[in-house]
Amino acid sequence: MLRKRFFSRSLARISLLFVVVTSIVVPSTYQPLLNGLYEALKCSKVYQASTFETFWTVFCYAVIEPSLTVVFFRRPEWRLAAHNAQDKMDDAEYPAATISKLPKPKGMRRPSRRLYEAFTYVVPLLLMDLVMIKKFAGVDLEAMLISGNYEPATTLPTGYHRSTFLAPSMHNFSVSSPLQTKRALPAQAPTSRRLVLELICSFVIYDALFFVFHLLMHIVRPLARWHAPHHTHAEINPQITNQLHVFERLGLVLLANFSLNIIRSHVLTRTLFVPIFVWLLVEIHSGLDLPWGYEKILPGGWGGGAKKHALHHKNGGGGLEPFFEWCDGLWNYFALCRKHESRTPAMT
Ligand SMILES: *[C@@H]1O[C@H](CO)[C@@H](O)[C@H](O)[C@H]1NC(C)=O
Ligand SMILES: [Zn+2]
Repeated sequence: MLRKRFFSRSLARISLLFVVVTSIVVPSTYQPLLNGLYEALKCSKVYQASTFETFWTVFCYAVIEPSLTVVFFRRPEWRLAAHNAQDKMDDAEYPAATISKLPKPKGMRRPSRRLYEAFTYVVPLLLMDLVMIKKFAGVDLEAMLISGNYEPATTLPTGYHRSTFLAPSMHNFSVSSPLQTKRALPAQAPTSRRLVLELICSFVIYDALFFVFHLLMHIVRPLARWHAPHHTHAEINPQITNQLHVFERLGLVLLANFSLNIIRSHVLTRTLFVPIFVWLLVEIHSGLDLPWGYEKILPGGWGGGAKKHALHHKNGGGGLEPFFEWCDGLWNYFALCRKHESRTPAMT
């Protein structure tokens, strides 16, 4: 059993490494595939819509979270709560009957009861989608402005506008075009090298930024009040992922957007970022010690994983970093130093 698990984990690890390395070293291998995929996407009305990313994120979430919820109920032996109960008992064999009787965590809701949750997620993002011009790397200003209902060619008020996402532009509202419904897309597909490097960088940047954001959520009083609902639950379970105050959720989405934009990610990178991001978010909130958890696939000490995040939810102390371990490591290191310093004078 254990050996089989070790084998499949090594296989996953090697496959991942293979894809990452070949994408970076021999991007020509993947180019036909990426070109085909991007051409198809670029021509579709759905992909051209300014609201695409909002609905794509909801779609990914609506697939991933219920799937992990099913795993949560089908494999009670993976629930961290079962492990904790097991630790408390003296004998190593935790009776299977007790595991299967683990209660359903309080506060879990059926999908029909969660329309309000979906609504509060979607509305602020849709509002922004429908009034602001999307500014993607590799698109020229003229194309952006045309998508925003500005007159083409000579009359373009380009003087006011910039092509960077840091200078947002409003849609040019008119009776015939009352809302921003389109987004201008770059002409070319990215290379696999660019795609993979951008994905890695955006996750590392997001992880560090969210660490700071989350730290503020824990130490600044008014923010802590927003963050509290995310920590008030019995046993952690996949549905906690989105149990967030509107502002906190917005902060999370905007930080992800920023992390992608600041390195000028290709729009296709953004499209692939979403499912990975949503998967990781749900996984760390799943309350499950999955045998193929991402922290077990990544090199040891890189990924935080569900266990660490569950501990944070319980104790509220450390473990502020969502996906990796580096910021938490540094934070703990400096916390130790401070403790040490404050103790030294007392001893002399
Ligand atoms: C998210 O990124 C896009 C692409 O750069 C940008 O156009 C948009 O304004 C950003 N959205 C928000 C709400 O900041
Ligand atoms: Zn927290």
